[in-house]
Amino acid sequence: MDDAQTVEDQKLYYRERTPEYDSWWHREGRYDKGPEFGSAWRREADLVSSALADFGPTGRVLELAGGTGNWTRELAGRADTLTVIDQSEESLELNRRKIEAAGLAQNITYLPTDVFGYEPSAQFDVVFFSFWQSHVPDSRFEQFWAMVKRALAPGGRVFLLDNAHPTLGENIHRAPIDVHTRADATEQGDQIDLLDGTARRTLADGREFRIVKRYWRPEDYVARMADLGWQAEAHETEHFFFWATLQPV
Ligand SMILES: C[S@@+](CC[C@H](N)C(=O)[O-])C[C@H]1O[C@@H](n2cnc3c(N)ncnc32)[C@H](O)[C@@H]1O
Repeated sequence: MDDAQTVEDQKLYYRERTPEYDSWWHREGRYDKGPEFGSAWRREADLVSSALADFGPTGRVLELAGGTGNWTRELAGRADTLTVIDQSEESLELNRRKIEAAGLAQNITYLPTDVFGYEPSAQFDVVFFSFWQSHVPDSRFEQFWAMVKRALAPGGRVFLLDNAHPTLGENIHRAPIDVHTRADATEQGDQIDLLDGTARRTLADGREFRIVKRYWRPEDYVARMADLGWQAEAHETEHFFFWATLQPV
């Protein structure tokens, strides 16, 4: 994989995808896979949301790659201060409008910034990110987590969630996944390459982009993070979601 090019392409992809992004989260339009799929998706999302509530994203919270704000909303009502970073000004603008409409905009700072160039100028009690870990290529993994460690105040914690490995959801995706070769059909209906950790995504108008998509299983993730000096607990819901909590050792 041409890592630098793919990282740039995924930035452009998400900027261009802003107006259609939420239809994926709400399983509408081309992301509507029927009532069974939709109710399982919402049920499992609620489980992860409850896990986040139990974790308690309080104090000074940093959200990386906050996008259009579907999880910013969950943080905004609980954090004392919330800093939201994303490279997409378009997504942050949508995020801001949603949070204002929900009456939760107090103490939020939006920073249009590239995560890979971000150097924290303050320390945080919690770092949170959703559907971002899988977009970090292996070649930048250590650099990324070193930055997260610098962002945390003593005693600080991390909560993340992401798409589960697609083999987990095979039954509900109703598509065979071959983990050793190119594999078709994720819940987004696009082509993924589990070997090199990329995916080909299309926008509604047919434009194609190649992005990073590196899925994790809990046991592999916990071991990888232990190598980097983190104590992690990682979990999966039945089909769709991966989530983890971490603290530096
Ligand atoms: C899958 S979306 C997740 C958005 C949001 N966290 C959510 O749960 O809906 C990925 C986000 O990463 C952002 N992103 C991609 N590359 C980035 C980079 N290099 N720096 C900062 N944000 C980036 C995109 O703009 C997009 O908003």
